Amino acid sequence: MNEQDFPILNQQVHGRQLVYLDNAATTQKPQQVLDALNEAYTTWNANIHRGVHHLSQVATQHHEEARQKVADFIGAKSAKEVVFTKGTTDSINMLAFSFGEAMVHEGDEIAVSYLEHHSNIVPWQMLCERKKARLRVIPLKADLSLDMEQFKQLLNDKTKLVSVAQVSNVLGIENPVREIIQLSHKQHIPVHIDAAQSVPHMPVNVQELDCDFLSFSAHKIYGPTGLGVLYGKEAWLNQLPPAEGGGEMIEHVSFNKTTYNTLPYKFEAGTPDFIGSFGLQKALEYVEQTGRERIAEYEGDLTQYLEEKLSQIDGVNIYAQGQKKYGVVSFNVGNIHPFDIGTLLDQQGIAVRTGHHCAEPLIDFLHVPGTIRASIALYNTKDDVNRFIEALKRAITMLN
Ligand code: ALA
Repeated sequence: MNEQDFPILNQQVHGRQLVYLDNAATTQKPQQVLDALNEAYTTWNANIHRGVHHLSQVATQHHEEARQKVADFIGAKSAKEVVFTKGTTDSINMLAFSFGEAMVHEGDEIAVSYLEHHSNIVPWQMLCERKKARLRVIPLKADLSLDMEQFKQLLNDKTKLVSVAQVSNVLGIENPVREIIQLSHKQHIPVHIDAAQSVPHMPVNVQELDCDFLSFSAHKIYGPTGLGVLYGKEAWLNQLPPAEGGGEMIEHVSFNKTTYNTLPYKFEAGTPDFIGSFGLQKALEYVEQTGRERIAEYEGDLTQYLEEKLSQIDGVNIYAQGQKKYGVVSFNVGNIHPFDIGTLLDQQGIAVRTGHHCAEPLIDFLHVPGTIRASIALYNTKDDVNRFIEALKRAITMLN
């Protein structure tokens, strides 16, 4: 689907046509996004919200249009609910600090799941250390799904926030986020969704989910790197203090008292990435023009094809095999170290990720040193999968 729009894919690596299957780490950018970044720097680069001059006003207008595009894309009620950050990790750190300052006290609890990315574990651990609070972990069942009975037991009047990934970056499976949100809300507990691995692969609507906070990264959805989004319900964001101080986030500054800007600027200290936001806007437009449902269906079929082909290879152990996956399949081959497979794939022009994928607790749970992860995007094809499978078979033959 639309491979021709992604110039980086048209190259050879180690003398072989590149097959890029590391999309859960970062996606490649379509020409439309590359052109937009070039246009921005070439024709209207100027700092936003600060100048009466023409270029500053053009740049400001683009940045705020991009914010509105993000709000529409995720179904937010208002652009005020969209805070630009440096990425998902930054969004979660910002939330952990800001929410933690205002809402978390000694003895309180924060709940995450066992299969989270480190970025949805460590900021909460740091908060718990600062506040003498406790991190609770939703355990996994043998099939690697979340143990929802245990989750229900774990919620209590000390639970201040639940933070879970919608789609696991290692397993590609979706967590029951709707149920998690409903159960949490019954006890008036807000929920943050790490949507870094879901927003690129499925339509996500924050009002339909009714999540209180949600984070994702631009670079995983065909946009520029170094930019992310923290969505928060307006009522929540209004209650929270800024996480960082500086320019932009203030209303008035004096040595006696500083007052803060309105939403969302209160959370955006310093010069924001107004070029990146323009790139993200173009990326989201690109996804919409391709069709979000169409992408979900195409990638769903391709991921299933990938899993089927993998399952036909002797010795391959696929994690969460048979469960619906969103663009990500993790596996191992017998006792071969994932790094050895990854290296031999690379020599054949195939890019996959190997290792713990920044989810060490889950990898420990699997009792392996790491996994080989193939992850797809809208530009991958059956031909890519076939070439990956042939290369994998050659790698296994060489290592056995
Ligand atoms: N979070 C990214 C991944 O899972 C880097 O690969």
